[in-house]
Amino acid sequence: MREAEQRRQIERLFSVAELGPRFEDCTFANWQPRPGAVQAYKAALDYTEQHRSYLANGRGLIIFGPPGNGKSHLAAAIVNALIGQGVSCVFRTVPSLLKTIQATWDEDIGVTEHGLIQALISADLVVLDDAGAEKWSEWSEATLYYVIDERYRWKRPVIVTSNCSWKNLKRGLERGHSTGSSKHVCLSRTGPRATGERLQENG
Ligand SMILES: Nc1ncnc2c1ncn2[C@@H]1O[C@H](COP(=O)(O)OP(=O)(O)OP(=O)(O)O)[C@@H](O)[C@H]1O
Ligand SMILES: [Mg+2]
Repeated sequence: MREAEQRRQIERLFSVAELGPRFEDCTFANWQPRPGAVQAYKAALDYTEQHRSYLANGRGLIIFGPPGNGKSHLAAAIVNALIGQGVSCVFRTVPSLLKTIQATWDEDIGVTEHGLIQALISADLVVLDDAGAEKWSEWSEATLYYVIDERYRWKRPVIVTSNCSWKNLKRGLERGHSTGSSKHVCLSRTGPRATGERLQENG
C-alpha cells in the first residue's frame, strides 16, 4: 500500500476525532504545572519538540503514575501537536483498542482484523493509553505483544500511559518479550493528585 493511501487508512480506522472532547483540546499550553508531574511534562514536551529523532529511532515514552494526574493529557498533547505536523498517530486506550479488534470478528466494520492490525503497525506513532486496565487473556497479551514487537522491528515508537507500578509495568513488558523496545523508552513519573498530601517529584 502506498504511503499516502496507508495514511488515509490509518486516519479512517483510528480517527483522532475519537480522542473525544476531553482530550481533543489537551495541549502543552493548557497544561498547568503540578508538583510531581513536571518531569513527565518535560519528557512529553521534549518528545514533541524532538519528535523527528524519536520517530526515526523508534524511541517511545512511558508515562506512569497515579490516576488523574495528567498522563493521558500529556500523551494527547503530543498527538495533538504531531498530527498538525503530518505525523500519523493512533491514540487509544488499550481496552478500547482490543474491543475494536474483537469487533472485526463478527461485525462488518469495513476492515479485517489483519487490516486493522497492519494499520496499527504502520502508523508513525501509537499511544497505548491506560495500559494494564485491559482484561487479561492469552489473546490480549499475544495481540499486544504482536503489535508492540512488530513496531519495534520496524523502529516505530509506542507511547504508553499507565497507572500500574513500575515493577508491574516492567514485568508486563518483559512478559511481552518487548524488553528490546523498552530499552529505548524514556521514563517519567507523574506525581500524586494534588490532595494536600506531601508531594514528591520522581525523575
Ligand atoms: N497538570 C494538568 N494541567 C491541566 N489539566 C490537567 C492536568 N492534569 C490533569 N489534567 C486534566 O485532568 C483530567 C484528568 O487527567 P488525565 O485523564 O490526563 O489523568 P490520568 O493521569 O491519565 O488518569 P488515569 O490514570 O485515571 O487515566 C483531564 O481532563 C486532564 O486534562
Ligand atoms: Mg489516563
